[in-house]
Amino acid sequence: MELDTRAYNDYIASLFAPQDAALTETLAEMEREGVRRINVSATEGKLLQILALAIGAKRVLEIGTLGGYSGIHFARALPEDGRLITLEIDPHHAEVARRNFERAGVEHKVEVRIGPASETLRQLAAAGEPPFDLIFIDADKDGYPEYLRQSLPLLREGGLLLGDNTLPDAVLTGEDSGTKRYNAAVAERAELTTVLIPILRQHGIDGLTVSLKRTPVV
Ligand SMILES: C[S@@+](CC[C@H](N)C(=O)[O-])C[C@H]1O[C@@H](n2cnc3c(N)ncnc32)[C@H](O)[C@@H]1O
Repeated sequence: MELDTRAYNDYIASLFAPQDAALTETLAEMEREGVRRINVSATEGKLLQILALAIGAKRVLEIGTLGGYSGIHFARALPEDGRLITLEIDPHHAEVARRNFERAGVEHKVEVRIGPASETLRQLAAAGEPPFDLIFIDADKDGYPEYLRQSLPLLREGGLLLGDNTLPDAVLTGEDSGTKRYNAAVAERAELTTVLIPILRQHGIDGLTVSLKRTPVV
């Protein structure tokens, strides 16, 4: 029997993740523009924000912008001179996200780069970008293992690597999936200390894989 998570999720969200006008409008704008609501939940957004604040992040890289909902949470965690670079393959999503970043008043901290993430990641590496404090992977699930390989060199020592939607049905059914391969790959990386946190959704449970890049600990 599937756990009815709605009441738990609503309780946590109402206490700890109230939505202000900018966040509510972001979701409304996505609805108006026909952008699927596959963004993180309000409580997961708050968790992402806390993680960025906890490590004093100044530079965040997001793979998978959609309408900018998670991006607003990150941008708000950054200091005025901080930077969020967010990668998106769909120009329409990017355009909606840019409007939402503007409405939220964080556009000066955010750069949306359009194109396949693996190509943009290659460009970032080639350009010798300064390292990122936090990298959030939330795009096409098949791409996760490759994004892991490309992202790690871009992450500073002590930085956080976050992979979203990593507790899919495949974990239980035994089927292969990009996120399952991602979990297996991060578990094997000696420079990552990792745990998968179950995340409540309106319906059921998903997961966020949280990896800290540092000297190995047991
Ligand atoms: C789950 S949504 C991102 C949600 C967003 N992080 C949030 O919580 O508000 C995934 C996004 O990744 C984008 N995407 C899919 N494949 C991609 C690729 N190869 N490169 C870059 N972006 C991609 C999709 O167009 C979509 O907007």
